[in-house]
Parts: sequence; C-alpha cells; structure tokens
Amino acid sequence: MRSHYCGAIHAQHATESVELVGWVNRRRDLGGLIFVDLRDRTGLIQVVFDPQQEAIFTEANRLRQEFCVAITGVVHARPAGQVNSNMSTGAIEVQAQTLRILNTAAPLPINLDDPNNSDEQRLKYRYLDLRRPEMTQRLIFRAQVTQCMRAYLAEHDFLDIETPMLTKATPEGARDYLVPSRTHKGRFFALPQSPQIFKQLLMVSGFDRYYQIVKCFRDEDLRADRQPEFTQVDIETSFMDAESLMQFNEGMLQHVFKTLLDVDLGTFPRMTYADAMRLYGSDKPDLRNPLTLIDVADLVGDIDFQVFREPAQDPAGRVSVICVPGGAAMSRKTIDGYTKTVQTYGAKGLAWIKVNALNEGLAGIQSPIAKFLDETLLASLLERTAAKTGDCLLFCADKSTQVTEALGALRLQLGEDFGLIEATWCPLWVVDFPMFEEVDGRLHTLHHPFTAPKSMSTQHFAAEPLKALSEAYDMVLNGFELGGGSVRIHDSAMQKQVFDLLNLSDEEIDNKFGFLLEALRYGTPPHAGIAFGLDRIIMLMTQATSIRDVMAFPKTTTAACPLTQAPSPANQTQLQDLHIQVMKNQPEHA
Ligand code: AMO
Ligand code: AMP
Repeated sequence: MRSHYCGAIHAQHATESVELVGWVNRRRDLGGLIFVDLRDRTGLIQVVFDPQQEAIFTEANRLRQEFCVAITGVVHARPAGQVNSNMSTGAIEVQAQTLRILNTAAPLPINLDDPNNSDEQRLKYRYLDLRRPEMTQRLIFRAQVTQCMRAYLAEHDFLDIETPMLTKATPEGARDYLVPSRTHKGRFFALPQSPQIFKQLLMVSGFDRYYQIVKCFRDEDLRADRQPEFTQVDIETSFMDAESLMQFNEGMLQHVFKTLLDVDLGTFPRMTYADAMRLYGSDKPDLRNPLTLIDVADLVGDIDFQVFREPAQDPAGRVSVICVPGGAAMSRKTIDGYTKTVQTYGAKGLAWIKVNALNEGLAGIQSPIAKFLDETLLASLLERTAAKTGDCLLFCADKSTQVTEALGALRLQLGEDFGLIEATWCPLWVVDFPMFEEVDGRLHTLHHPFTAPKSMSTQHFAAEPLKALSEAYDMVLNGFELGGGSVRIHDSAMQKQVFDLLNLSDEEIDNKFGFLLEALRYGTPPHAGIAFGLDRIIMLMTQATSIRDVMAFPKTTTAACPLTQAPSPANQTQLQDLHIQVMKNQPEHA
C-alpha cells in the first residue's frame, strides 16, 4: 500500500511517483485547490488536489480531519514563496493522482491541537492522544532507547531471560498487587515488585550475565516519577565487583546518551551517601543546582539563641545554612513562603541574615536574630558561607534528619526560583549507603535485604548494624534516581544474619525466603546487579515532566485506567471461583 513514509520524502524525490497512507491532519480549500496535510508516525506532507481531476477532487471534498486515506501522486518542489520552513517536508508537496478513503472518522472527542486537554480526557482517549506528534515521537524515541540498550547488552554477552509475573512477594518495600489463585483456595500470587530473587537464582544456575526489560508492579503512592506498573532495565552479573559493575553501567548510559542525543555524559563522579545528605540534603542530589548546605553548628554552640544552641550542642542535631546569591532582595513575604516550605518538612523555623554590605559588620546586615550575633560570630558565618554583598543566609536548626530534609527541599525550590539550574546533564553515583536505618525502634534495609554489607567482622556487624555500610550504589541524574543496585550476599549464613537483624522470625524467613537460603548453599557465585527505571530515563532524555508522557497506556494518579475502566468489578461466579467471599449488600455487577 505504501512506497514511502510521509516524513521520509525529500526534495530529491521530486518527479517521483509515491504511494502514501495516513491520516488527514488538516484540510484547507484555497484558490480552487484542496490541500491536505497527510500524517503518519514519521511526520506530515502536503498533498494537493486539483479540480481538473474531477473524480478525485469530488472525493477529496469529502475528507475530514482524521480520515484514514491512501493516496498516490507525484512529488513536486513547491513554488518559490510557498516553502514552509516549519515543516520538515515543507519544500515539497505531492500532486495527488488517486485517492482512496480507507476509513472515515467521527468528530473527535478531544482536540488534538489543544495542549490543555485534561489528563483524564487524554488517558480516556489515549489512542487519539498518541496521534499527537509529540507523543508519537516520545514513544518512537523510547523504542530506540530500548533497542540501543539491548544491542549494547547483547554485545557484552548478556542474555535476555524472562522471569515469572505470577510469583511470590519480593521485598522492595512497596505494597504488593495480589492475584487470587483459583486452584489453591485462600492463596495468592503477588505480581513482582522486581525480578530480584529470580535474577539471583539465575546466577545460582550459572547464567552469569542476565538482563531483562521487564514490567514491575508496586502499589504505592504515585508521583510524577512513579507509576504502579513501570519498566525496569534489570541486570545481574556473576564474578563482577561493585567497581566493574558501576563502570559497565556507566558505559551503557554514556553509550545511550551519545548514540541518541549526541550528549557526552563524561565520567560520573562518585559521592558517598553521607556527603550527599550533608551537602545537598538528598540521596539523589541535583548537581545542576550550585547551592549547598553549609554546617555552622561549631560556630553557634555558645550563642544566646537557644533555637541554635541546643541543636548545635546535640550530637543528633544540626545547624545549617544555605547562602542564596542575590537573596538580600527577597521580600518578607517570600521569606515567609520559604519558612512554610521548611515547616512542611517538620522544621520549626527559618532564620535569616541579609548581607546588605559585606564589609560593614553588624551595621551591614539585617536579621531577626541580629541581637544574638557579635562581630566575631558574624564574620565567621560570612567567611564560612563565602557570602557576598546582596546575598541572604537562610538558617535551619533542629534534629539532623529534619534540617537535612527541610533544607534539601528548600535548596531545590531556591534553585528553581532564582533560576540557578543550568541546562546540562549531571550524572553521579551515590555509594556507601548505610545498610540499615532505624524506624520506630526497628531496623529496615535502605535497599533490599539481599544487599551485601561492606567488609566488617561478623561480630561487629551484629553488634553495631547501624554503623554498617552496604555495597549498594544508586545512579542519579539531575536529581532523579535512575537506578539502584548492589553486590549481593552469596553466603547463606550472612543472609540469615541479615534476616535476623530485620527481626524476621525463623518461620517468616522460612515462608518467605526459605528457597533462597537453600539455593545459596549450592555453590552460589559472588554476584551483583542493578535495575534502572526505564520510564525515568526516557522522561529525562525527552524532557517530559511526567513518566506518564513516555508510557503508551499509563494509569492515573489514583492508579486507575480511564480508557478501559480498570480496575473493574468481578462478577459473582468469578469471585466464587476464586474463593472470595461476596459481601451481602455489595451490588452485583455483570
Ligand atoms: P529499586 O527499587 O531501586 O531497585 O528500583 C530500581 C529503579 O526502578 C525505578 N522505579 C520506578 N519507576 C517508576 N515508578 C515506580 N513506582 C518505580 N519504583 C522504582 C527507579 C529505581 O531506581 N531489585 C532492585 C534493583 C537491584 O538491586 O538490582 C530494585 O528494584 O528508577
Ligand atoms: P523567634 O526568636 O522565635 O522570633 O525566632 C527568630 C527567628 O528564628 C525567626 O526568623 C524564626 O523563623 C527563626 N527560627 C525559629 N525556629 C528556628 C529553627 N528551628 N531553625 C532556624 N530558625 C528558626
């Protein structure tokens, strides 16, 4: 039916006959001629219908937006003065010779040219929304990225192996999507939050280098960079240490960015988790933003201002500053707004010093805490923060976790508001994560419980688990966690020790992970892996603002699908088959 894609016709095709298929993007009647912009997934081309060819001209008169048509014609250069430089095919047009209407289209329920259609409408008519060139291009780009990754991985001896979707809970920290079993009354499959355990078992089997581009399911609160069903580029290797694994994956990302965007990502810096939290208040720092958190507890330990003195003297406290360039011009209202920001993160307030004249000491500043400062302290603060005339220092003092979180969030907001974010790419690796964190007196792993601790004697590890660092690494780009992974525990006794520290009973361990502990006993090789969030990578590469814009059929923020109306009720028979008791006053659905 087709000789060329619409967007693939160029000036050198002039005088050639072509056969095109596509959709009517727009029809215009001008000077007795009919012009149709014909669209397919590659772009648009202008087709001209001449009234002298009576039969097809009459047919062309029937064309409406989004009719699906087949056209044959001859390519011509457009007359000088009629070239459209906004169209990649704007220098040429096709003089139609035949026209076949393959299908008509009812008036569309959404206007494809309107960028302000509601998300609900766009998702309900997703198949139409995806006709918008911007959306089409993103999905084409996504296919190119996966193609590029597959080629890279295959070239490096990775095998694509599938793992089950109907499986058992995987401990990635979110709620599971459960699927009731018909054949096993009262039992459930869980959809995988990741293929974590299976990829480790594939290492036990000896497959050595595995990858999979795979759907994962997590029932968690959704955000712009989170979907209940998303795609991981999942990787596991045997006999590779953390260093070589990071280098390999850095190489893959460099290759993908170079091939598809012609961007050179350069060598990724490494930053410890402790430094990331201290300097940026985040374990996924956006290094495009030049602001940092500057600790001043050592300077304010004897100050009369109790709000600063107490946390400054408390080993679990923190007193930090962000120096905002040009911030002295901020209004009271603006500062109040920032105070609200830190308060939403549990900080109690935000003190400030406006530096109106750097060299005039106390006379040159304005601050609600001026009365607690003396010349020496002020000079030390100005020196530590490298403040200049016109800057503003914003202080937060509290428990360390609160200050870190609050100033971490404030830093991002200030970066946006003061236009400090450079248009560039800032990748990095965050390493040396703590193995555990304590929540309500119980230990939790920062990654998953299969992550190996950094070398430490087993007694020391058991005695002071909160001091242990893990062999985990996260890849971060422009403030987003693109991927995370670790060296795994390949020793059954160590794995059992970690489960014990997590306070899992023997019965729980046996129920949930007995099969893994057993597998680790049969010659398990040392192994390590990582998983990337493919949707996030594509979102960043295409500069989309939500991962929904790079997925063909995403869910709403309440995890529903307006197109199919999923999730939908099940009928009585289905529920009975699945041994699910039906409540008496529940309405029955067909
Ligand atoms: P983790 O839980 O860090 O690690 O997930 C890996 C990457 O997947 C992406 N991601 C998501 N993307 C969209 N929506 C979500 N709800 C979502 N959740 C996670 C992120 C994240 O960095 N099994 C381990 C990996 C390993 O150790 O090999 C795992 O799943 O980009
Ligand atoms: P006050 O003496 O309570 O009026 O506070 C003086 C300044 O300190 C105000 O600007 C408050 O916003 C600020 N402030 C209060 N609590 C904190 C805190 N925990 N950290 C930093 N600044 C604070």
